[in-house]
Amino acid sequence: MSPQAITAATAAAAAVKQLLFHPSFLPPLHCKRRHISSSILTVASYSTTLSASTRNTKKLNRKDNSISVTSRRALIDSVVKKRTRSDIKFDEESFRQFGDTDSHIPVMLGEVLGVFDSRKLITFVDCTLGAAGHSSAIIQSHPEMQSYIGLDFDPVAHEKAKAKIDSIQKDSTSNLKTHTFLRNFKNIKSTISEVDEHLLNPGIDGILMDLGMSSMQVNNSKRGFSVLCDGPLDMRMDPQASLTAEDILNSWPESELGRIIRDYGEENNWRTLQKKIIKTRLSGGLHSTSELVNLIRSCTSGGKGGRQGWIKTATRVFQALRIAVNDELKTLEVSLYDCFKCLAPGGRLAVISFHSLEDRIVKQTFLDIIKSDSVDGGGSRGFKNVDFENEKWIKQMVGGVGGTILTKRPITPSQDEEKVNVRCRSAKLRVIQKD
Ligand SMILES: C[S@@+](CC[C@H](N)C(=O)[O-])C[C@H]1O[C@@H](n2cnc3c(N)ncnc32)[C@H](O)[C@@H]1O
Repeated sequence: MSPQAITAATAAAAAVKQLLFHPSFLPPLHCKRRHISSSILTVASYSTTLSASTRNTKKLNRKDNSISVTSRRALIDSVVKKRTRSDIKFDEESFRQFGDTDSHIPVMLGEVLGVFDSRKLITFVDCTLGAAGHSSAIIQSHPEMQSYIGLDFDPVAHEKAKAKIDSIQKDSTSNLKTHTFLRNFKNIKSTISEVDEHLLNPGIDGILMDLGMSSMQVNNSKRGFSVLCDGPLDMRMDPQASLTAEDILNSWPESELGRIIRDYGEENNWRTLQKKIIKTRLSGGLHSTSELVNLIRSCTSGGKGGRQGWIKTATRVFQALRIAVNDELKTLEVSLYDCFKCLAPGGRLAVISFHSLEDRIVKQTFLDIIKSDSVDGGGSRGFKNVDFENEKWIKQMVGGVGGTILTKRPITPSQDEEKVNVRCRSAKLRVIQKD
């Protein structure tokens, strides 16, 4: 990249960031609480794709305070998401059929179905059952399916999903066998072998990972994930795990605490937060989410952004703690390699991520799997086992050794979907196929 291009890209990134972190970008305070945190996570993930926006530098550099919230949002959307937005028509009927507003609404359902549409899915694994919205739709769209395996390490999600999958199997007239497990997806290989060791040879035709939390988890204040509801400092997605957010806050070494707030929360004010948290240990430590939120407020009040300022910081700190408690990033990286190994020739792995740290891991791991050190040079034709002409959702691919990345750029939700499910706004879908 030339020095001029770098300067232009930096300026564009700064301008978009300025717009994004303007308090008026955030949803109004009367928004349903459960929507606020994901909207803010969306803001964090937007910032990762900024460098793509050089062409709009001039437009964005206008420091025009009179620009309305609506046009600001529209501008950001057009700059950041123009290249990645799904062009699949949003199907509101399926959205209602497979989504359950009390538990969870599957994100980018049409896009996920599209990924597997051309495949004969004799075998399928859903690594993240949640409320089984994606799974139910995929099973129903593939009557040829004979073996289905679903995993989730959250007992509430597993129970709910199991009931749904069991009833689909009961009503099914085909030879479908379904198996659900209360288990971490890092055990995908041993789980498949446990069901039937012959499944690993030739392998699985389709694997889905829809990362992050389900609405059932976020909405339950007792799990400690919500910035806006008081609850215990728990944040375990697997309640059998031993480490909680409270343990980290009250007993981890100071430097480790600072590191996770900086690296997993991408929070600039991490030093101040780290010091304040350590200081509370002298008077008994932190024991509830509201105590943590109050501490964060005391570090951010007086700064820019008012209420929205502390909510953004709190969201980042909560994200950092959640990632550390559940060892999310390492688990993801290791599991992506294993999922790919489990695929049959022509099999596809689709991953939906919800924040920039996750998306970066998915992108880099996919490149590493096919031994490609760059996404440059991607094209759309001549790749093994991909019928590009008939798969309109595939825009550009990246070829390599043993597989093809079918999404040179991630796919992001359509505007119509964002309107009905604000939580989907930070979602990014990436797909890899085995040769
Ligand atoms: C976003 S939800 C999935 C929603 C689902 N696709 C649906 O349509 O209802 C993510 C789920 O993945 C689960 N999960 C996250 N990390 C996991 C892991 N390492 N192993 C197993 N399940 C995991 C969470 O407990 C949560 O229920």
